[in-house]
Amino acid sequence: MTEQKQAITIVIFGASGDLTWRKLVPALYNNFKKGRLDECAHVVGFARRPMSDEEFRTHLKEGVTTFSPETFTEAVWAAFSEKLSYFKGNLETPADYVSLGETLKSLENNPANRLYYLATAPEYYLGAVENLGTAGLADQSTGWRRVVIEKPFGTDLISAQLLNTGVHKIFNEAQVYRIDHFLGKETAQNILFFRFANTIFEPVWNRRYVDNIQITVAESVDVGHRAGYYDKAGVLRDMFQNHLLQLLALVAMEPPSSFNADALRNEKVKVFESIRPITSQDTVRGQYEAYRHTEGVPPDSQTPTYAALKLYIDNWRWKGVPFYLRSGKSMQSKTTEIIIEFQRPPHLMFAYTDAGKFMPNVLSLCIQPDEGIHLQFEAKLPDSDQEMLPVDMDFHYRDSFHDNLPDAYERLLLEALEGDASLFTRSDMIEAAWRLIDPVVSAWGSENPPKPSFYPSGSWGPADADALLERDGRCWRLGCSFEI
Ligand code: BG6
Repeated sequence: MTEQKQAITIVIFGASGDLTWRKLVPALYNNFKKGRLDECAHVVGFARRPMSDEEFRTHLKEGVTTFSPETFTEAVWAAFSEKLSYFKGNLETPADYVSLGETLKSLENNPANRLYYLATAPEYYLGAVENLGTAGLADQSTGWRRVVIEKPFGTDLISAQLLNTGVHKIFNEAQVYRIDHFLGKETAQNILFFRFANTIFEPVWNRRYVDNIQITVAESVDVGHRAGYYDKAGVLRDMFQNHLLQLLALVAMEPPSSFNADALRNEKVKVFESIRPITSQDTVRGQYEAYRHTEGVPPDSQTPTYAALKLYIDNWRWKGVPFYLRSGKSMQSKTTEIIIEFQRPPHLMFAYTDAGKFMPNVLSLCIQPDEGIHLQFEAKLPDSDQEMLPVDMDFHYRDSFHDNLPDAYERLLLEALEGDASLFTRSDMIEAAWRLIDPVVSAWGSENPPKPSFYPSGSWGPADADALLERDGRCWRLGCSFEI
């Protein structure tokens, strides 16, 4: 007889918020539709607003039809929505966690495992964790208890350390799943498969063959209605400390000995710890021109909405290879990609080689939106004597895999339910990332006079960012679908 697995209850704190509506419940719905949520018997939403179960379901249904219209069907929704219920509670009221515990027990009948998802504003994380602990809801004697914590995890090293210490008083590290949704993107997950499930790339993946690596995370959207959060955070905290550094770690890390969560995360931490402190002259900060006219943004705000950094990883593989990272809002296109630019051949013997025009090999890992991988190489121009032109070897997800790529949250929720923390950030990784970013934030904060360079919306960022590479004899490259 196969062993009956213990049922799982998911409790979402911040259940009336945007994240639950746009991302979490559509992801749960899609997992349910794919038959991957059988063990999850209940999804309980916890929030302050009074709402009946029925109203909660109606609100969430609207989220699924809006954000996942292509997979929505009434029949699947009817079956899925039976799992959903609502609990009115205040995150800051300890007694509400006690009654939540009682409600969960009566819902569950038999002892169940529980996943607590903190989809709240970050200032509530610690209080919620403490209240869970005091109410006995972190106790694992009748089943596992895990907590998922959204980004941002702290606003600097000290706040991240305080948060880690507070969380660890209630949950041990193995129970904590810190989200970086970039790690749930299929194309980000594929980086390790591309590197380590193939033989031909890894031998050239080092300082002997690579000239430089570029990571671009450009967004066409502006800050929208998030000025309250964004003006305090800025692009370094919002994008670099987490998403860009995680992509960098995937590209730069050594092969772990196994695909186990700690083996993987140990290698990533080693990358962060090998990054040389970033000097101010290797940074560029920008602000899109219209930013100060956004509602909620002070008219003299210095907050950067764009940054470009150059950094070095001081280890055997990467010594001397510059990594250029850039990200910004209100840029020309939404595109996330990683460029590996290879060195030029040691000797070019062809008569028509125009050194200025010659293109080195460029490998582009296109994370979004046109997911794929491209290798650019030189080919002889037909019907010429010795002329050449760069051409592309292309792989597009849409051609090779016909289904739409799942949203990152689908995978992340599944992994948290399955207890695999590979795609989540560990406490030491979070702190190591802040150690790199904090000095840049402070250096920018102490600039006198402050100097964000302004850039027009719809551009590729400030001219200073081009100069950062030009002074090294290089330029930003976009290998996926765009030309600068
Ligand atoms: C979030 C940032 O973490 O990532 C946002 O807070 C940003 O500012 C978003 O827009 C980008 O995510 P994606 O998946 O749209 O590239």
